Amino acid sequence: MSFRKKIVKSSEEKKSNIVLALDLPPNDRTLLLKRAARILESTQDHICAVKLNRHLLLPLGLFDGVQDLIFQAKEYQLPIIMDCKINDIGNTNRIIAEHYFGGGFDAVTANPFVGWDDGLQPVFETARNIGRGVILLVYMSHRSAGDGYGREFVAVDGTRTPAYMIFARRAVEWNADGAVVGATYPERIGEIHSVLEQKVPIYAPGVGAQGGTISLCMNKGVRYLIVGRTITLASDPGRVAEKIKNQTRAS
Ligand code: XMP
Repeated sequence: MSFRKKIVKSSEEKKSNIVLALDLPPNDRTLLLKRAARILESTQDHICAVKLNRHLLLPLGLFDGVQDLIFQAKEYQLPIIMDCKINDIGNTNRIIAEHYFGGGFDAVTANPFVGWDDGLQPVFETARNIGRGVILLVYMSHRSAGDGYGREFVAVDGTRTPAYMIFARRAVEWNADGAVVGATYPERIGEIHSVLEQKVPIYAPGVGAQGGTISLCMNKGVRYLIVGRTITLASDPGRVAEKIKNQTRAS
């Protein structure tokens, strides 16, 4: 089953559109792994997927500790995404993608800025051959996102287009499995959604710790909410995940 179908199925079964960003502050490796496993166990009924970033991958290693978490996610029928923001030349990008897919990840994130030929084409090809997903960054969630994603590209005829609109069009043209748009920029979500329509689902990080509001971004067309610290640093991560799940369903 393709990544896209997997997350739709999981979202329907769990009645949730929360992607848990399983990020933790640095700690002893054994403690990190135990804590991550506990958070995953306590939130599994309230999330539709798990996303890892370098917080765990760097200290635990792809073929070492992180494998336990990947197996655990699979046991709970949860797709698992590697937020690696692939951003290099084609040959390197292909190898990065092969490593993450070989390690068991169902999807990777990538930066459309590098283009298609000898850029992200090899990543999409690798993913498509084995039913995995590629999610593109279209507008990031941090405060200075506009410094890059909001810059205008000027065409030879003088037409000016913001980078995020070009990236949104690339997401449709390349048949991406998702587009990341910061929950902190609801207006951008609306604009980008008008390009993506129902063809490419929006994943929005940035609620809670970064200040984004759930109802605002859900109403603008977000399909999946990526939530990290609000859940992972809570004293009862399961309860917080359940509360956010209910809030997204009510909005
Ligand atoms: P928090 O703790 O802020 O975690 O809820 C969010 C998670 O998502 C990552 N992140 C992003 N990933 N594009 C991405 O691909 C973004 O714009 C973006 N903003 C946040 C962040 O690194 C963390 O893992």
